[in-house]
Amino acid sequence: MQYDVIVIGSGPGGYVAAIRAAQLGNKTAIIEKYSVLGGTCLNVGCIPSKALLDSSEHFHNAAHTFADHGIEISAPKINIEQMINRKSGVVKKMNDGINFLMKKNKITVYNGLGSFVDKSTVNVAKADGTSEQITGKNIIIATGSKPTVLPFIPVDKTRIITSTEALNLKEVPKHLVVIGAGVIGAELGSVYARLGAKVSFVEFADSMIPTMDKTMGKELQKAIKKLGADYYFSHKVTGVVNNGDDVTVTARNSKDEEVQITGDYVLVCIGRRPYTDGLNLEAAGLTTERGKIEVDEHTLQTKVPGIYAIGDVIRGAMLAHKAEEEGVFVAETIAGQKPHINYNLIPGVVYTWPEVASVGKTEEELKAAGKAYKTGSFPFKALGRATASGDTDGLVKVLADKTTDEILGVHIIGARAADMIAEAVVAMEYRASAEDVARMSHSHPTYTEAMKEACLAATENRAIHT
Ligand code: FAD
Ligand code: NAI
Repeated sequence: MQYDVIVIGSGPGGYVAAIRAAQLGNKTAIIEKYSVLGGTCLNVGCIPSKALLDSSEHFHNAAHTFADHGIEISAPKINIEQMINRKSGVVKKMNDGINFLMKKNKITVYNGLGSFVDKSTVNVAKADGTSEQITGKNIIIATGSKPTVLPFIPVDKTRIITSTEALNLKEVPKHLVVIGAGVIGAELGSVYARLGAKVSFVEFADSMIPTMDKTMGKELQKAIKKLGADYYFSHKVTGVVNNGDDVTVTARNSKDEEVQITGDYVLVCIGRRPYTDGLNLEAAGLTTERGKIEVDEHTLQTKVPGIYAIGDVIRGAMLAHKAEEEGVFVAETIAGQKPHINYNLIPGVVYTWPEVASVGKTEEELKAAGKAYKTGSFPFKALGRATASGDTDGLVKVLADKTTDEILGVHIIGARAADMIAEAVVAMEYRASAEDVARMSHSHPTYTEAMKEACLAATENRAIHT
């Protein structure tokens, strides 16, 4: 079978690329090695983790904040099986949604492992042992990523687990040791801390979510500490041993002392690696560079004409919306259009409570670049809306060019930060100054008033409510 566009991998990069390619009139096929579409994000990533974050947040509120609102209930109990089943139901609904979109856009779906035969032919090895070869004028590689594993951390998927198993536990751990206090650690650590587990974070860097603006990490640590978590920062894990009923993590601290932490489960979340296993890239004339497929910055085309790559398998942030943007970008490039992605304005969100959301440059990046900047901050505790809901933790921090006042970065920790960041993305896309945003009317009472106030603070320190 001959196609205009073949997409390998059905995550947010791949399925979105397929839809856009089909919309543009291309005969399109998508190959997925699993029996369900949606990739990491839908099946073992963004969506199931958010479903559990929401369920655990409801439990936490029922146990800890309802009484304050004058709602009296007897102590809530966790039915972990139901919580996990609900999560699986959410995923299933969305799997069905993608199947519908494939049909609607007349995209042919092949379930099986895709591997290159040559630069325009892909073999699909199916679960029943049969295989089929299809050819494409254009091929888009969207094979995503898998958790990073280290030789001295023997992930056994029962007690020493990755995020995939953490989304399907049959019990709430008594003591969950989380190796890596990055995005997955913060989110899934929060889930189990809210459900009553003792959570210990062992982190190589000196703070949580160390790649984000330092203020965010500091504030998030305080919030998660309130759930009873403890931290081992500047600790490098050197070994993990499953003792049967419990697991011992060994780490070295900054004084080079050995520290041991024992829990009943260990969650390993120390980053993810691009995934190209089984693709047989060599047959297409492709290689990887430190695991990633190299692409041309202007077209996302690999060194082989007609073969493109997008999403987690190439450079850049490993985020679903970044993969989606690249999927649309490549489909439009193939159609001869001249699309554009502003990588500086891909927001990053951590769905803890309070949520953390960032776009643009961090303060540390501006300092390192020697850029003259000014900051404006506004705390949630000074907001009417936050006081009414009881969500007073957090702040908005705006970084603006010292001379021109152009907004260079916005970092929010607080209730609904994930949604609030969209305003900052729009403002920065249109190269707004802090004063531009400060002069726009924001509904009262809303959390977004913190954005306006932080912009007022950045322009001549004129926030009204602090
Ligand atoms: P993937 O989603 O990884 O999809 C790749 C697909 O290709 C897979 O289905 C795979 O089976 C298939 N495949 C691989 N090789 C082959 C082959 N040879 N033949 C056929 N098929 C193949 N990002 C966010 O933006 N927001 C979030 O809230 C968020 N939460 C996350 C939570 C967790 C726990 C994890 C692990 C990740 C999360 N992410 C989140 C990251 C997000 O999931 C990824 O950035 C995103 O899925 C990348 O999309 P992709 O299309 O590049 O690849
Ligand atoms: P991460 O890169 O966010 O965090 C990994 C952490 O592990 C880092 O802080 C690192 O310093 C630490 N680390 C590495 N080696 C270590 C060692 N030997 N000992 C102790 N600490 C060590 O990676 P994570 O959390 O695994 O997530 C992978 C990716 O998945 C994220 O970078 C993100 O792109 C994506 N993701 C996105 C989410 C979102 O957008 N909300 C949610 C979850 C994942």
